[in-house]
Amino acid sequence: MRNYRTALTWARAELAGLDNPALEAEVLLAHLLGRSRSHLLAWPERALDAVQQRAFAGLIQRRRAGEPLAYITGRREFWSLELEVGPGVLIPRADTELLVELALGLIPELIAEQAPTQGPLRIADLGTGSGAIAAAIASERPDCQVLAVERSDAALGIARANLQRLGLGHVQTRQGDWCRAFNPGERFDLILSNPPYIASDDPHLQQGDLPAEPIQALVSGADGLDDLRLISACAPAHLRPGGWLLLEHGFAQGACVRQLLRQAGLEAVRSENDLAGQQRVSLGRGKNGRLPKPAFALG
Ligand SMILES: C[S@@+](CC[C@H](N)C(=O)[O-])C[C@H]1O[C@@H](n2cnc3c(N)ncnc32)[C@H](O)[C@@H]1O
Repeated sequence: MRNYRTALTWARAELAGLDNPALEAEVLLAHLLGRSRSHLLAWPERALDAVQQRAFAGLIQRRRAGEPLAYITGRREFWSLELEVGPGVLIPRADTELLVELALGLIPELIAEQAPTQGPLRIADLGTGSGAIAAAIASERPDCQVLAVERSDAALGIARANLQRLGLGHVQTRQGDWCRAFNPGERFDLILSNPPYIASDDPHLQQGDLPAEPIQALVSGADGLDDLRLISACAPAHLRPGGWLLLEHGFAQGACVRQLLRQAGLEAVRSENDLAGQQRVSLGRGKNGRLPKPAFALG
C-alpha cells in the first residue's frame, strides 16, 4: 500500500465482510489524512508515508474488530448536520429523520392555531443522545424554543458540545429521567422522542454497530416497550392544548404504540411509514386542540 489507490484496494479486501467496504475504506483514509473523499479519488497516485500506512492499517483493524465507523471517525451526519459521536452515545440513524420531518410539518399548523399572546412554540426532545433531533429542529426553526432532555452524563456532554459547535447554544439542555426532567406545569407544543425500543432478547443486538453502542440507549425491557409505555403515560400532561406527542418505534410496534397513545387520552392518533413502508413513528394530539383557522370565510 504505497499510494491512495493501492491503500484503498488493500483496505477494501480487508473490509470485505461489511456492507460497503469501498465507502468505509475511503471514509477512513480521508479521516486519517484530514482530506475529503473526492481528494482521494482525484489524487490516486499520491504516496502514503510509513507512518500514515501504519496508522491506516490500525484504523482498518479497529473496523474489522467491530468498532463502528462513526466511533472511529468521531462523526456522523444527521439532517445534513455533522454531529460528534463516541462510545456512550447512540449513533444517530437516518431513520430518525422521519420523526424530524413529521415534527417540522406540524409546526406551521401549530403556529397558525396559536393564541396571539402565546410566545414561541416550545418543543422537547426526550432522550436526546447526541442532540440529533433537537439540533435538526433548532437549525430549521430558530423561532421555536427547544429543550433537550437526557439521563446519561456521557450523552448529555456530547449533546451540549454538538449544540455549541453548531451554533445552537440557545437550545436548553436538562439532565433527567423522561418527564421527571420537566418542571411541574411545564407544557410543550411538541414532545418528540426516539427512546430505546429493542426487546432485551432481540438477536439484532448482536449485529452491526449495536454491540458497541450503550445498552441503555437501545434496550427497553422484555418486549422493547417499557420506555414507550412510560413516555406515553407521562408526556400528555405536559402538552399544551392541541400539542402533539411523536414517538419513534420499531417496525412491528405501531399498533401497540397507537394503543398506548389512545389509552393516554390523545386524539387523532396515527402511525407514519418510512420510505420502506414500515410504521416507524406514531403520534397523537392533546385534547382541546383549537380548530385551524378557516382558509376563507363561508358566505
Ligand atoms: C435510541 S437513543 C436516541 C438518541 C437520539 N435521540 C437519536 O435519535 O439519535 C435513546 C436515548 O434515550 C436516553 N434515555 C434512556 N432512558 C432514559 C430516561 N429514562 N430518561 C432520559 N433519557 C433516557 C438514552 O441515554 C439515549 O440517549
